[in-house]
Amino acid sequence: MRFLPRLIILAALVITTFLSWRLLLWSPATSRGGDLAPKAEEGFTLTLDTFLHVQQLRKKRLRAFCSQSGKVTTLPRSQEERARLFSNLRVSTKLDLLYCQVPSTGTEEWQQLLERLEKENVTPAVPLSYPWQHSQETQLREFNLTETEAMLGSYTKVLFVRDPFHRLIFTFMQDMGSSSSFSSFVQDVLDSGQHNSNVAWTPLVSLCQPCLIQYDYVVVFGFLSQELGHLLQRAGLPADSFLAEFTDTQVQWTYSWLSEQMFSELSLQQKKQLSHFYRWDLAAFSFSSSFLSGLFSTPETW
Ligand SMILES: *[C@@H]1O[C@H](CO)[C@@H](O)[C@H](O)[C@H]1NC(C)=O
Repeated sequence: MRFLPRLIILAALVITTFLSWRLLLWSPATSRGGDLAPKAEEGFTLTLDTFLHVQQLRKKRLRAFCSQSGKVTTLPRSQEERARLFSNLRVSTKLDLLYCQVPSTGTEEWQQLLERLEKENVTPAVPLSYPWQHSQETQLREFNLTETEAMLGSYTKVLFVRDPFHRLIFTFMQDMGSSSSFSSFVQDVLDSGQHNSNVAWTPLVSLCQPCLIQYDYVVVFGFLSQELGHLLQRAGLPADSFLAEFTDTQVQWTYSWLSEQMFSELSLQQKKQLSHFYRWDLAAFSFSSSFLSGLFSTPETW
């Protein structure tokens, strides 16, 4: 895709984002494993019961994945090793929250929300059972083993996830000019390999250690304001007035449309390689409407 077509796509992105505000309707095939996408209709309200039920499904799927995948499940004693594993994990010692920060999954808005809550001097209604000194530090890797254990044991831990193909499209759009086409961008991603890659497209399972950290909530791009509303309320934090800034519901519709165009630009081999590259994310989380799901049906390659 050269510059002009990309500009057209970008214009389409803006227009459809605007239109989809009122036209939120699409119906992917299945809804197993905690995917809310099939419920995406105008005016859909996520009740607390549904939210909790969906959380159970997502965590059950994640546990099933972890029991078979051989991923790291115990906290390393070495500070160096923890620093490597936890490079994307952030904490708010004021709000007793821990989350994994990955570009394009909604964590930018989330971080702004937390900063405002911290400024307003809000404290969680649920007190922790040990004395804690507030710290300016927001990187989990900066804390020692005792502190890390305490945080992992008592903080509310949140994992933001998003369809890996949508993350790729987002990164491609952000990075205007560095690749001549989506297909060559994807080729660069595939060539960079699993171990030498950019945080923008590295699989979430590698970035967020979901088998080591027992996340309390797995929130999926598409319904963040409703999901986070329930989550914050349960954590004893008020946030109603900030949640309107999450625009993921409108954006999601646009990406579903864009995915179809961009997926068709890829060769069959690239599609298969991408699906293999993201096999862990596709197995650990439910992205039933992802174009990458279903290309591989056998999980033996974990
Ligand atoms: C960890 O850090 C805390 C706070 O700085 C300190 O009180 C504690 O002694 C440290 N623990 C270890 C094992 O270094």
